[in-house]
Formats: sequence, structure tokens, C-alpha cells
Amino acid sequence: MSNPFLIGDNMTGGYGKGPPILHGCTISVNKGEIAVIVGPNGAGKSTGMKALFGMLNMHEGHVLLDGEDISALSPQDRVQRGMGFVPQTSNIFTSMTVEENLEMGAFIRKDDISDTMAQVYELFPILKEKRNQAAGELSGGQRQQVAVGRALMTQPKVLMLDEPTAGVSPIVMDELFDRILGIAATGIPILMVEQNARQALEIADKGYVLVQGRNAHTGTGKELLANPEVRQSFLGG
Ligand SMILES: Nc1ncnc2c1ncn2[C@@H]1O[C@H](COP(=O)(O)OP(=O)(O)O)[C@@H](O)[C@H]1O
Ligand SMILES: [Mg+2]
Repeated sequence: MSNPFLIGDNMTGGYGKGPPILHGCTISVNKGEIAVIVGPNGAGKSTGMKALFGMLNMHEGHVLLDGEDISALSPQDRVQRGMGFVPQTSNIFTSMTVEENLEMGAFIRKDDISDTMAQVYELFPILKEKRNQAAGELSGGQRQQVAVGRALMTQPKVLMLDEPTAGVSPIVMDELFDRILGIAATGIPILMVEQNARQALEIADKGYVLVQGRNAHTGTGKELLANPEVRQSFLGG
């Protein structure tokens, strides 16, 4: 078996001088795969994502990207190494246009970004149509497309999405999942947190159920969907 492309191994840590939120939590994603993190509110899903991205005070554990220990790197350095992260909140600049958001996303690049922008517009045609509109005027689903598109502008080697379908209708959720599958099909491994646990596990190669900062269940998406305990406690039966 090959090593995971991105792994947060045995992560223990919290915010500032506060108590640990994560307790020996392990999360990883392999090349060519979609990994999904589910679990109750406050379980530490977003905290786990932030730990992988270098935004947490880690007491224990390591983050490895493509086999290299990046635990000491700043978030910006992790972006340079190929990590793309769409946080759960404040993930777009609402007063800027769609296109300005995409340009901002490419801030670390010094080369020509026009091809990447064309690819993002191909993936999200509505963004091309609305490219000169303020991002804050868009619908929830469209804003999430801006946020994902912005992260893609750095040409990431791995994409982390925290609740990309939060607050959107079921139809828009399906559309967003289709787009996410499309991104994965281009070879970018995806690690995402999802409230829509059942639907997310259906498209997941690997799933994690986190509870109180710990790994409660880990398996393939199929295994978790079939696990009676997971169904009962986290999938509504
Ligand atoms: N910036 C922060 N500072 C201090 N505690 C936080 C912060 N963000 C989240 N927490 C705490 O960490 C725990 C896990 O939160 P979070 O990772 O956001 O959960 P989830 O994403 O699973 O809903 C919660 O108890 C929350 O109150
Ligand atoms: Mg969260």
C-alpha cells in the first residue's frame, strides 16, 4: 500500500493556550481519492482541517504531505507546497467581483493564470457569466463555487473543503457534489467535511466519523453507510 498523499497523524491540539480539541485524531487522503469527514456539530471536524492546514497549536502528531513532514510550515507555505483549503466561513471576498476573487486566489503565482481561470470557468460556467458581479450578490451555491474556484487558482495538489454544501438546497447540493467529483476526476485528491453525511459518504472512497476530537469510525464510504452503529447514531437510522 502506498502512503497517503496527505495525512494528519495522531493529531492532538487546540486553539492558542486552550485545552486540546483534537485527541490523537488521524485523517488522511490518498491520491485519486475523495475522503469525507462527518460527525456531530462541535466534534472537531473544522478543527481537524485547520490542523492539517497549519492553523492549530499541535501538541502531538504530524502532518505529512507527499511523505514530507510539513508540521512546522505556515499555512501560506503549505499553499506553496500544493494545499488548497476552502474554510467553512468567510471563504470569499463579498465586495469583490467573481473574477477578482479568482485573481486573489492566485496570489502566490507569478506565471500566467489565464489558462487556470478558463478551466475554473469551464468547471463552473455560471461564474463566467457572473464574473463582473460582486461575489456577495450571488446565491449560496454560487458563492461556494467561487470559494472552490478560488482555491483551484493555485493549482493545488490536494483540495480541502469544509462543508462546501452548507446552506444550499438539495438540488444545488447534488450539483456541487457533481462538480467536486469532476475536480477529483482531474486527479486532485479531495478531503472534505460534510453535514450531508449520507450523500457525502456515497461519493467517498474513505470516510471518517469524528466524535469529540477522536476517530470514532473509519472505513470506506460503503462500509460506513452499512455500519449499523454509524447509521443509527449519525445517519438517522
Ligand atoms: N477559534 C476557536 N477558538 C477556541 N475554540 C474553538 C474555536 N473554533 C472552534 N472551537 C471549539 O472547538 C470545538 C470543535 O469545533 P469545530 O472544529 O468547529 O467543530 P465542527 O466543525 O465539527 O462542528 C468546539 O468545542 C468549538 O467550540
Ligand atoms: Mg465545522
